Amino acid sequence: MIELRSDNAAGVAPEILAAVEAANTGSALAYGGDDLTAHLQEVVRTVFEHPTARVFPVTSGTAANSLALSAATPPWGAVLCHPTAHIIGSEGGATSLFGGGVVMRGVDGAHALVEPARLRATLEQVRWGDPHESQPSVLSLTLPSDYGTVYLPEQVGELVSIAREFGLRAHLDGARIANAVAALGCAPADVTWRAGVDVLSLGATKNGALSAEAIVAFDDRIADELVYRTKRAGHVTSKMRFQSAQLTAYLTDGLWLRLAGHANERMAELVAELQSLSPYGVRLEERVDVNMAFVELPAPAIDVAAEAGLQFYRMGPSTVRLVTSWQTTVEDVKEACARLREAVLGADGSTG
Ligand SMILES: Cc1ncc(COP(=O)(O)O)c(C=O)c1O
Repeated sequence: MIELRSDNAAGVAPEILAAVEAANTGSALAYGGDDLTAHLQEVVRTVFEHPTARVFPVTSGTAANSLALSAATPPWGAVLCHPTAHIIGSEGGATSLFGGGVVMRGVDGAHALVEPARLRATLEQVRWGDPHESQPSVLSLTLPSDYGTVYLPEQVGELVSIAREFGLRAHLDGARIANAVAALGCAPADVTWRAGVDVLSLGATKNGALSAEAIVAFDDRIADELVYRTKRAGHVTSKMRFQSAQLTAYLTDGLWLRLAGHANERMAELVAELQSLSPYGVRLEERVDVNMAFVELPAPAIDVAAEAGLQFYRMGPSTVRLVTSWQTTVEDVKEACARLREAVLGADGSTG
């Protein structure tokens, strides 16, 4: 079997497992009062070049998003995001739950990225001060998007500055932010607080951690709320040191960017093969900026590829999603390419 369903299906990076093992000596104060959690705070400030950023380890991306957003909006607020965003379609309304009734509104744009002109038009049409309408309070951008596309730092900056004109705060869903930073080759600060982002959901589990995500608040008022909100939601874990150990290992010596860069490179190899199959009905449905591709294939080829042991998500009768991870090897990709080629050429009538 070759795993291309999701980076969530990958295992734990050895460096991170080793950090958990190393944290498993002696005892430590519970609920984040330990030295490893204090150290993580310093590591986050260094990596993000922000002297007062505050980090809150949580156990899922949904928790990171919904708690970060609930701390940034009043209950009568509306969170603006792309209609394909995970927060709007795939988190069971967690943000509405923790936000006390907050709603989410889609603002469209090509390549699963919010378009600045549409954001401005949406905000200009709001009946500000009218209690009959939820009041836009936060712009949430997803980087990379759920379709694997990235905003450049200046695009994040442009969108956030439009949102700011109307008094909104800015959140970044960075469930795969390492893949974006690795692809962009920028500093983590450039796509976050330097571009105006107030609070970040920092993913780690998809990219090699065991069970750790984090909320990074660049705004002190949001951080002050998160102290209570994370506890009330059950995310102040008693043995937090093991999450902190994972996150510290992840962010130390660029491990997070190496793991993500590896996943991106494997996807680039796969994409080169897919492009060479374009005469046979293979088409990339979206730009591939990181480790995720949405691909249109002849329907019979999809079944053949699945039978040949390729694991992927079917998005429609002739569309699949392919995702590589830190664990995908060069050999996996070569083998996947060979099996895909065979499936596609077999399905193409002209080649018999
Ligand atoms: C963009 C994005 N944000 C957030 C999440 C939520 O993460 P979790 O499944 O850990 O709740 C996911 C999960 O797939 C995601 O793809």
